[in-house]
Formats: sequence, structure tokens, C-alpha cells
Amino acid sequence: MTFAHLKGSNVSVGQKTPLENLARAIRTSSLVKFYDIAAQQYDGLHLKELSFEDVGPHREMKVNGQTLINFGFDSFLGLDQDQRVRDALIRGAQTWGTQFGASRAFASCSVETQLEEKIAEWIGTEAAMIFPSVTLTNVGALPGLVGASDIIVVDEFAHNSILEGAKIAKANGTRVLQFAHNDAKALEKVLIEAAPYRCAVIAIDGVYSMSGEIAAMPELNEVAKRHNAVLYIDDAHATAVIGEHGRGTVLESLGSYDNTIVVGCFSKACSVFGAFVACTHEFQRLLKMRSSTYIFGGPVPPPYLEAISTVIDILQSDDYVELREQLDRNVQHIVEGLEALNLIVLGGKSPIITVLVGDEMNTFKAGKYLFDRGYYVQSVTFPAVPYHASVLRIQINSNHRPADIAGLLAAISEMKQLIHLPEASSMQDPLPTMGSDRFMTSDA
Ligand SMILES: Cc1ncc(COP(=O)(O)O)c(C=O)c1O
Repeated sequence: MTFAHLKGSNVSVGQKTPLENLARAIRTSSLVKFYDIAAQQYDGLHLKELSFEDVGPHREMKVNGQTLINFGFDSFLGLDQDQRVRDALIRGAQTWGTQFGASRAFASCSVETQLEEKIAEWIGTEAAMIFPSVTLTNVGALPGLVGASDIIVVDEFAHNSILEGAKIAKANGTRVLQFAHNDAKALEKVLIEAAPYRCAVIAIDGVYSMSGEIAAMPELNEVAKRHNAVLYIDDAHATAVIGEHGRGTVLESLGSYDNTIVVGCFSKACSVFGAFVACTHEFQRLLKMRSSTYIFGGPVPPPYLEAISTVIDILQSDDYVELREQLDRNVQHIVEGLEALNLIVLGGKSPIITVLVGDEMNTFKAGKYLFDRGYYVQSVTFPAVPYHASVLRIQINSNHRPADIAGLLAAISEMKQLIHLPEASSMQDPLPTMGSDRFMTSDA
């Protein structure tokens, strides 16, 4: 071989392999750079790759031999530990095997179609459609609702999977816009400026997963109806813990599903696996034809369908009332305790409660301080929340014991003497916003 052979080819002396080049290219993305720097800067503090060795009935967890109380689980009702749900999983495997090996575009097992009817009856809509996850719903169903003459308008703090779904819609020619978080006036301005359009879909979270805040749904829906727009609500963190029998935020806030398409979740408070769209028969039919992830992906495994069915029975039983009372008492306990410490508490009406820390380093130090004292809470920083608006995220479960909540509060009180946490009484400025158009951000 001579140098002449290399001229014009993609190989040169000392050049890296295509895989190495690919990895190097990915490393130039701002998100990867941010994580790499954070991992170096906060080495030993960021607690992002924990491996649980054991779990107990009251959210005990064992990590590296240390037993802690876990305040970082979405299984808000403790149903992951419920014998009825465990038995249902086993029953499902024995009846159906471990998976139903066809896309739902071809066939479904009867437990799934019956379960969809049961979900619709429980939640109060005409129909429901099961998906394997909320993420797969948002990237499949949301883009399936719109075309090139339509618009999607997204709350600036909406979940990442809504943004990903909106990006797919945008690639298909739909205009995608965003509005200031939970601000009906800002939404109206965006809709007025966007006109003319054929149809509009406003995509929001029912409960914002990083702050626990609930959507200002009545105000947003009023604006939507005035401007020929439909609300698309990702209610992942509300299913089973907000509203009567855990039906979520929509019926609770609006009293009907008239102008909405609702996405619920089975892998958080329900402690099983999967998601659903609650809608009319007409939309069920349309979405079956238009949701790429429904058509081209596999279904929820039948053992989980059995388990979901058992969870829905529990949600409609008297046991649910007890579980919710226990959960609500625990939420009230932590919120009152944090407020008594003069901390800035976000949320408080759902089991996600966040304490504003602000500074990234202090947030990681705070999480590590609590971890070393036997309490695991999540340190959440940019890009999940705006830069310098980092939080400690506390997830309250009904099977947390009051003594453990009191212990966490005592540890936070001690920590406050050592690590600066902003105080509610001196809070002046509004919290930062995301500040940029998250759809326009290109990482490459
Ligand atoms: C609002 C919201 N939507 C979607 C998801 C993802 O749900 P899933 O795990 O079902 O994909 C989450 C959380 O993890 C969430 O908080």
C-alpha cells in the first residue's frame, strides 16, 4: 500500500476506528460534557449508580452493606410489597407464559382487551389503550395526533418523553412551540401568535415530576377551548395517588374528560408495569392506526397485565381508602416538618415533595449528608431542573413509618446548620425557568 491508496479514503495512519470516532463525537454533546464534569467535580457525592442489595417492607434498603430508608421510590402506595399483586404476576405467568409474542397491531391476549375495558370503567372514559410505558406512549401517540397543519404547544417543564414525542412530530412537519410553565396567559399568547393552524394539542404533565406541582388545569383548559385546542395530559405521577380511587388529576380538576386525552401510568404508584391512554372509542381507533410504538413494538407481558388488573381492583376497594389515608398522613407529616424548618418546599399536594437547594454542589453534598445518616433522597440538578434551581426530591410512600419520616426531618434540621439551604422567609425571586426552547436545542 502507498500513500496514494489512502488519498480520498476514510482511513489514515494513526486514525481511530469508526467506533472510537463515534464515541468521541458523542462526547462533544453538551449533556455528556456536563455529566462528565459533574462526575469528576462531585466524585463520591452524586450517588447516581446505586445498586440495592436488599429491600424491606418499610422501604428499608441495603447498599454496600449499609441499611438506609429509601425516600426515592415512585411506588407510592407500597403495592410492590403487596402479596395480592405478587400472586397475580405468578398467576399471569402460569396462564399465559412470560410474554405474548405479537405486536398488538396483529393480536392481543384476552386479558389485555378485558383489562382495557376495566381501566376505562375505573377511570371514567369510554375507552382505554394499554402501552408498555408512558415514554412509549408519548413518543408514539402524541406525534400520531397531529399533522403538518397542526401545532403542539408544550409546557416548558413537561417531561422529557413529551419533548421527545414533540420532536418526532416536528420532524414530520408539525409546528412545535412551548409556553411558560403552568401559565395560562402565556399559553394564550402563544396560541394567538401561532394562528392560523388546523388543530392544536397542548401537552402538559398532570403532576410535574421534579417539583410535585400540579398543573393549573382549569385555567389551561379554558384557554385551550377558546383556541380550538385539546389538552394532552401525562398523568404519570398522579395515577393511583390523586383523585377519587386514584383516577388522577383530570377528573379531579376538570370534572370531565371532555377536552382531554389522558395518559396514565402503571409503573409508579401502581408498582407494576405499563401505561394507558384514556380516551373516546373514536380516539382509541385512531390511535391504534397512528401510534408507531403501538404498531411496531411489543406488548406488556401478560403476567403484568394480570397484576395491573389486581391493582385496579385494589384501587376500587376499601383497602385503597386506608392506603391513601396513610400516604396522605405521611405527606402531611413531611411537608409540615419541612415548613417548620423554614425551607422552600415545592409540591406538597402529591407524594413528590422537593426542597429547594439551588446550588449544584450543595445539593449533592446535602444528598450525601443524608445518605451517610441513613436516608436516601434524590439530589436533582440541571438538566432535570433549571440551572441553579437544584432540589432534594423526597418521595413519600404509604409504607414509610412515621418514625423514619421524623428521623429524616431531624437529619435535615442538623444538615441545615452545615449546608446552606435557602429559607422560605427570605425568598424574594421567582424560581428560574428553563430559559430556552428545549426543542431547538441540538446537541450534535
Ligand atoms: C411525567 C412523567 N412522564 C413519563 C415518565 C416515564 O414513565 P415510564 O417509566 O412509564 O416511561 C415519568 C417518569 O419517570 C414522568 O415523571
